[in-house]
Amino acid sequence: MSTPDSSSAASTRSDPAPGGSGGGDHTVVGVDVGGSGVKAAVVDLATGELASERIRIETPHPATPEAVAAVVVELLDRLGGADRVGVTVPAVVQRGVVRTAANIDDSWVGTDANALFARALGRPTAVLNDADAAGLAEMRFGAGRGRTGVVVMATLGTGIGSAVFTDGRLVPNTELGHLELRGMDAEDYAAASVRENEHLGWKKWGHRVGRYLRMVDRLFSPELFIIGGGVSKHLDHYMHHVRDKMHSDTEVVPAHLLNQAGIVGAALAAQEEASS
Ligand code: BGC
Repeated sequence: MSTPDSSSAASTRSDPAPGGSGGGDHTVVGVDVGGSGVKAAVVDLATGELASERIRIETPHPATPEAVAAVVVELLDRLGGADRVGVTVPAVVQRGVVRTAANIDDSWVGTDANALFARALGRPTAVLNDADAAGLAEMRFGAGRGRTGVVVMATLGTGIGSAVFTDGRLVPNTELGHLELRGMDAEDYAAASVRENEHLGWKKWGHRVGRYLRMVDRLFSPELFIIGGGVSKHLDHYMHHVRDKMHSDTEVVPAHLLNQAGIVGAALAAQEEASS
C-alpha cells in the first residue's frame, strides 16, 4: 500500500490538471528509488514544486529490477498516470543501463533500466543516478540556481552521492562517495548513516565530513559545495566542525529542496530527454 508522505513540504494537489506539471501539456512524474522507500509525485517544472501529494511505497526486498518496476507501476497508477516519467536509482547509469550496485540489489548491474521501465509503464522513461537528479533540481530551482563555474553537490544519506556541474552542465556518474579516505570507501567513513550507526556526535562526524570535503575541494576546486540529504537541514549545527577540517573557505550551503530533490530532478530529466 502506498501512503501520502506527510513529510513533504510541498504544496499538494491530488488531482493534477492537464498541463499542471509545467511541462507544456504534459504531466511529468518523478520517481526516486531509495534503499527504504520509493517516492513519487507529479512535478510542476515551471516552479520545481510538487503538483500532487508525494506518495511512497516501501522498497521491496530483495529490490530486484522487476520488483522495483512493479512498485513504480503502482505509484504511477495511484498518481493517475503520466505522459513522461523520470526514475532515479542509487547507481551509475550510462545511457539507461545500470553499471554499479553499491546500495541496491546486485541484479541491477547490466540491467537496461530505460527499457525495463519503458516496458512496465508503456512509455519512454528517463533513468539517472539519484545524486545527479538531486543536483539537477538544486541547480535549476534551489541552492545552485544561476551559479556558474564548478559546483559540487554531495548528498549525505545511506551512502554519499555526488553531482558535479561546470557552468550548469552535469558531468554524470561522478561517484565521489567512493573516493578512498583514511583507507576506506569515503561513504563508509562520512555518510549520514555512519553517524547514526556509530553513534557519532556532531563534532566527530562533522570533522569526518570536513576531511571528506577537503579532499574533494583539492581535486575539483569548486566555487560552491551544496550539501544534500536529510542531514543538510541541520548544517548550521555542524558546519563549524566541518570547517575546522576543510582548511578552505570554499562556500558550503545546504540544499533547498531536501527530500524532494530526487523527484524533481527525475522529472527534469524526463522532460529534457523528451525534448532532446
Ligand atoms: C552509490 C551512488 C549513489 C549514492 C547515494 C552510492 O553508494 O554508488 O550511485 O548516488 O550512494 O545514494
